[in-house]
Amino acid sequence: MARGRFISFEGIDGAGKSTQHAWLVNYLKAQGRQVVATREPGGTPLGEKLRALLLSDAMHIETEALLMFAARREHLVQVIEPALARGDWVVCDRFVDASFAYQGGGRGLDWNKLETLAAWVLGSTRPDLTLIFDAPVAIAQERLHAATAKPDRFEREKAEFFERVRAAYLRIAHENPQRVRLIDATRSRDVINKELEQIITTI
Ligand code: ADP
Ligand code: TYD
Repeated sequence: MARGRFISFEGIDGAGKSTQHAWLVNYLKAQGRQVVATREPGGTPLGEKLRALLLSDAMHIETEALLMFAARREHLVQVIEPALARGDWVVCDRFVDASFAYQGGGRGLDWNKLETLAAWVLGSTRPDLTLIFDAPVAIAQERLHAATAKPDRFEREKAEFFERVRAAYLRIAHENPQRVRLIDATRSRDVINKELEQIITTI
């Protein structure tokens, strides 16, 4: 059985990432593929409990990073690795790059500590393709505020925080041209759908 494909979706809150995640999952299923649609933090019963804590409770930035990676370890072992081994496609709304962008870029946590955690928690597993949805912070915040009645602990952060997160994502895209595709998220949903259709033919 050929190993499946692993695709992650990234971007600042409000960029339109979850909208495109849902679209791609449906598109791949319509093509007859076995697809596991999942997300981080979360993706397992324990991970979803950790997600609830992470999105609501104030905590030290290293605690935040460690809980993100604890949830990720569970997700990898229980869901992602078995799915890839079965030959399924795993389409994940956020993965490890979010820790570099939010905990590293946004919160200022040492990048080397995140590298150490990533090496430990992920082993050799990395997405085959990462789509980073990029938009100016003002546009993403406008979309977010129109869509969200009760913003969570991250969504309540100031624009400067999201500027740092965005800059970290752009750095990740620049440093990983083989794996990462930067998507201009300011365009219409339809135009982005068409681009994703084309991109997934390349993996
Ligand atoms: P994210 O997952 O990146 O936080 P969402 O996919 O939840 O963002 O989208 C945030 C809001 O923006 C939603 O109301 C969604 O309908 C809207 N939206 C998503 N994509 C677009 C787009 N291309 N153009 C305009 N609005 C969009
Ligand atoms: P997300 O599911 O995108 O939120 P929503 O459902 O509200 O669109 O992600 C929840 C938040 O968690 C998001 O603000 C980014 C943050 N996050 C990190 O800070 N580090 C991480 O490693 C991950 C996976 C998410």
